[in-house]
Amino acid sequence: MSLPTDEYASILRRLDEEARLRSIPGENEHICTDLTSNDYLGLGARGTEFDAELLRRFPDASFTSSASRLLSRRQKHHKMLEDRLEELYGKPALLFNSGYHANVGITSALAVPGTLFVCDKAIHASVIDGLAVGKADFRRFPHNDMERLETVLSRHASDYRRVIIAAESVYSMDGDTAPLQRLVEIRHRYPNAMIYLDEAHGVGVRGDKGLGLAEECGLIGEIDIIVGTFGKALASSGAFVAASGDLVRFLINCARPLIFSTALPPVCAARSLLMLEKSICMPEERRHLASISERFRKSLKAITGEESVSQSQIVPLITGDAAKAVALASELRTLGFDSLPIRRPTVAPGTERIRFSLNASLGIRDVDSLADALKTLLQT
Ligand SMILES: Cc1ncc(COP(=O)(O)O)c(C=O)c1O
Repeated sequence: MSLPTDEYASILRRLDEEARLRSIPGENEHICTDLTSNDYLGLGARGTEFDAELLRRFPDASFTSSASRLLSRRQKHHKMLEDRLEELYGKPALLFNSGYHANVGITSALAVPGTLFVCDKAIHASVIDGLAVGKADFRRFPHNDMERLETVLSRHASDYRRVIIAAESVYSMDGDTAPLQRLVEIRHRYPNAMIYLDEAHGVGVRGDKGLGLAEECGLIGEIDIIVGTFGKALASSGAFVAASGDLVRFLINCARPLIFSTALPPVCAARSLLMLEKSICMPEERRHLASISERFRKSLKAITGEESVSQSQIVPLITGDAAKAVALASELRTLGFDSLPIRRPTVAPGTERIRFSLNASLGIRDVDSLADALKTLLQT
């Protein structure tokens, strides 16, 4: 009789044959330029630099909250962070343990009968998972295609009590941005529509204060539900939603990852608050990041002959093939650049790639040397 795990082993063999077998990367033994992390402001790479300030400002922030938000008394630091987010976004905020928890918890809770989600095709897996958990009615429109979004809305919006249009501000794999102004205009034509914006890759990076693309476009007030994360540019962990008071009260009562999971350790909330304050004061780093990203995108165009879809610090180089992406990442590593291949199911078949994730601690020389290395590897 075959072992009950045989099926799993054969799936792993198939993934291996297709150059799609993943493993958790280890520490890099060589000193490489890191192009893998979402530490976009370089705050995480500054190591223990902020620990003394964290301890001084929040000496009583414990390492455990010991219960879920609804059952814990250790809430002071969560509350301080939520209050500060409310000040900045002009709407009440609620913390979640991670962006994944936030998206799954919020979308599954909002999927009450009479709700239709209309999602950009490239929306993050956590939103898709939330829709599955919540057994939501949902439709997708081709990535950033506002005409097709309008077609979906004109056909289906009136069949529902409410429609939630879900998009990312800066898309995690292509690095392009949502046409926020157009999204808002479209939403205004459908009185039962709301916008759900995942700013995971916009927080810290876009806007004068680093609040995200909605801030940069002057549209925070027009977005009904903004989700941001602390684990990327803000070099901490956790996530938040900023939405109306009614929606936040609804989520406190109905978002299962909030109700049934131990809350973030208070020390994480305190660290996020500290990093948020640091980030607000880093417009120069944001400008520098935008400038080296543009420079790198131009260099890439000169090498590949193709305009990059990216409009941000996330710059993909499509290989269109998993094995090629793995090989290129490995060759880059030998030249001192740490980048990771992105394969199915993270991206669609045929769009396998290297995802270069730039950060503000890189200099012009770093991105130019990366471009030189790519030129050598791709043109030989
Ligand atoms: C667009 C987007 N949303 C949400 C998440 C999840 O955030 P977190 O890493 O905090 O769980 C990610 C991270 O991978 C992401 O890229």
